Amino acid sequence: MEADANAKSYEEVSSPQVEAGSQFIRGLNLSLGDKVLDMGCGTGHVTKCIADIVGPGGQAVGIDPDAERIKIAEEKSKEVGNLQFCVGSSAIGYPHDNEPYYDVHISTNAFHWVPDDEKRIYIQKAHRCLKAGGKLAIWCTAKMPNEEKIEGVHTLTQEGYQDLFQEVGLFNNVVVDNVIYPYRCKSFEAFKRFFEASLHQELDSDKYAELLKKCVTSEDDGQVTCKVPCIRITACKN
Ligand SMILES: C[S@@+](CC[C@H](N)C(=O)[O-])C[C@H]1O[C@@H](n2cnc3c(N)ncnc32)[C@H](O)[C@@H]1O
Repeated sequence: MEADANAKSYEEVSSPQVEAGSQFIRGLNLSLGDKVLDMGCGTGHVTKCIADIVGPGGQAVGIDPDAERIKIAEEKSKEVGNLQFCVGSSAIGYPHDNEPYYDVHISTNAFHWVPDDEKRIYIQKAHRCLKAGGKLAIWCTAKMPNEEKIEGVHTLTQEGYQDLFQEVGLFNNVVVDNVIYPYRCKSFEAFKRFFEASLHQELDSDKYAELLKKCVTSEDDGQVTCKVPCIRITACKN
């Protein structure tokens, strides 16, 4: 799928993830005036939710390596003064990644796309760009035992994420929780599109179609629910 078509498709079908991410954000007790970085912001829905919480005296900065997604996010937010978007990543760099600038460094539904080596850089850079007392918060997918490898997805188990933070050091009060989250879509077709847009590829192989059918349960009204094993990480910079 072309990058712009993929970004538009993601914008149309991403509501189950946006709802999960927004719920996670609302539980973080962000304060008015906070400066918040949103890594892997996609088309910017969760970043907008952050901007609303921190208010005009705060700042929400959305970063994503996908230029087409950033373009859509920027088009939607022209009038919002405390919301900015920028192409970047931990590997490429992002605004203020070398100074203690942000109060909170957030990521929803993106850390499992970050390759394992880059995850270390991600944590190091997050530590560098947070103020003393700042918070790192990540919502992502967990790896299941015996899970088939999906190309491009870099999930870890709860222990894997704990080990990663211990190896890198730097952060205190690291808490890694397992959560089963019910992602709801209005139909199986919508769920498949959502999965394709997330993976940046069309699922033309029967393998993934079968895998998806195994993951979902159908409701009487045609909606489908996929119970996804997720990880919630919070950590503090002293
Ligand atoms: C499923 S979307 C999540 C968007 C948004 N955070 C949300 O919760 O709706 C995952 C995003 O991660 C981005 N991504 C992929 N690799 C990344 C990396 N190495 N660093 C940061 N973001 C990455 C993708 O471009 C994509 O926009």
